[in-house]
Amino acid sequence: MQHALQKDQPALLLAPMEGVTDSPMRALLSEMGGFSHMVTEFFRVNQLVPPAKILVRHMAELKTKSCTASGTPVFLQLLGGNPERLAETAALGAKLGAAGIDLNFGCPAPTVNRHDGGATLLLYPERILTIVKAVRAAVPSPIPVSVKMRLGFDDPTSIYKNADMALQGGASWITVHGRTKSQGYKPPAYWEAIGDLVKSFPIPIVANGEIWTIDDFRRCRDVTNAKHYMIGRGALANPLLVQQIAEELGLPHQPTEENWLGWMDRFAALALPLSTNPNYVVKRLKQWLRYADQRGNFQGFQELKRAENLDAFMHTLHGSGVVNLREV
Ligand SMILES: Cc1cc2nc3c(=O)[nH]c(=O)nc-3n(C[C@H](O)[C@H](O)[C@H](O)COP(=O)(O)O)c2cc1C
Repeated sequence: MQHALQKDQPALLLAPMEGVTDSPMRALLSEMGGFSHMVTEFFRVNQLVPPAKILVRHMAELKTKSCTASGTPVFLQLLGGNPERLAETAALGAKLGAAGIDLNFGCPAPTVNRHDGGATLLLYPERILTIVKAVRAAVPSPIPVSVKMRLGFDDPTSIYKNADMALQGGASWITVHGRTKSQGYKPPAYWEAIGDLVKSFPIPIVANGEIWTIDDFRRCRDVTNAKHYMIGRGALANPLLVQQIAEELGLPHQPTEENWLGWMDRFAALALPLSTNPNYVVKRLKQWLRYADQRGNFQGFQELKRAENLDAFMHTLHGSGVVNLREV
């Protein structure tokens, strides 16, 4: 289990965020340091097992021993409700070199839920058991199989049963997003149950949800006593938060200066070769800055969001001096 999480060793994972934390974003955040592991955006498994090349397109790191260029291990996340297809796809991912397989039981998107995937499964604990068991059996034992789930569909207390099913099925660790599907992304996150699992489960429990600042992290740690954390939106809103948390967890990290211009340039350089449409890259840059803008970490977004193409965006970013960074 070369890259597996260990109960007594801290870890800081990048959250999977569909359409956000793709391979160029993972490469950049990995260059910046602080994350010990990353999880891909979900790959939806329907009726067919995908051809290898589709999985590799989804997870570029399969070409580089399941690590980013800077060496952060990446796990492949699968989403679906069919145990056999999930197991076959997981086996293929493992054969292609995935460092681990993560199963998504949390996605609240209506299209995903309608097609029997994500958070819907939280209503059927037995199905969670069956799926985890099937995937565990299909993947060679040195490769971890983990689970990511919400507290429940409507009922937050269902986490206890569902997490137990994942454990019985052989999950290597469980990431818990401290909200039900019905609670969507509305703050706050409820971390107390995560603390219960940390206390009573023999496997690592990864705490997730609503960590935007180092104070949020400390409160979450006080409530959960967890050694393992996953952050998503907070890492985009303030990439330096990753360093701060890594420091508190005693994980390797390098001191990084706030440098939005450099980060934007680097993301564009990483993403452009993979995109047929440069405007897609602009969309992604704006998406990223929107997180930072909403949290007051980046000023100048109002001007940048009007840029219609990459040239205009970069000209505004570099040329007009709109970037006026908050002190961290
Ligand atoms: C835009 C977006 C896309 C997401 N995509 C995924 C996904 O593909 N798989 C998954 O397990 N969770 C997904 N999530 C949930 C996150 O992984 C995470 O659990 C959630 O954002 C809470 O963590 P945070 O408060 O640190 O962002 C997504 C969340 C957002 C906002």
